[in-house]
Amino acid sequence: MQPVLAFDVYGTLIDTLGVTIELERRLSDASKAGEFAKRWREKQLEYSFRHSLMGAYVPFAECTREALVFTDRALQTGLSDNDRDHLMAVYAELPAFPDVVPALDRLRDAGIRCVAFSNGTEEAVNQLLTRAEVKSHMDAVVSVDAIKRFKPAPAVYAYLRTRLETRPEATWLVSSNPFDVIGATHAGLRSAWIRRHSDAPFDPWGIEPDMTVPELETLADRMMR
Ligand code: 2OP
Repeated sequence: MQPVLAFDVYGTLIDTLGVTIELERRLSDASKAGEFAKRWREKQLEYSFRHSLMGAYVPFAECTREALVFTDRALQTGLSDNDRDHLMAVYAELPAFPDVVPALDRLRDAGIRCVAFSNGTEEAVNQLLTRAEVKSHMDAVVSVDAIKRFKPAPAVYAYLRTRLETRPEATWLVSSNPFDVIGATHAGLRSAWIRRHSDAPFDPWGIEPDMTVPELETLADRMMR
């Protein structure tokens, strides 16, 4: 049976570096842009975990907006409403990594189904992937929004399999985010960690990915062996 690959979006298909560039333009101290972007992403994910655990689900874009406001307060960067609106707009229109389309095309030519699997709503992810010119290279978009839970809740990976109509051993979660890789592995799926930065650490939980590769072309090579 051919595997089905479910690709995480932010950090895996989509390069969020564009957010840092816009921050350099808008922060009075541009040197804070890298720290701001890092803390914004960490707080965005923390909010998704907290909203999910509390049973107080909101769309992922709301976690992103709340985290932007918090990070601005924490770093005392004094962003205006206009700045925040522009930064949120940048988050909705980011480029794909250069390896994404070539890898997706090779995988799909080999008969391997490739879907996007994200915390983002279906509408937001469709818009993001269309603007990044990736959407037409994928078979579907699966969003956790349908069950109002966020990654890494086991329910989201069960929902993914239901939507794909696949067995656990034929379902691969492909992500650059260790929390996602560990969540999927714990839920019984296969997993590939896209370690885009060679110094990126992995959580010491003793739950390891089935595969670790530096980018998606290598993933395609491995999947088609
Ligand atoms: C996702 O796209 C948050 O990167 C994670 O689901």
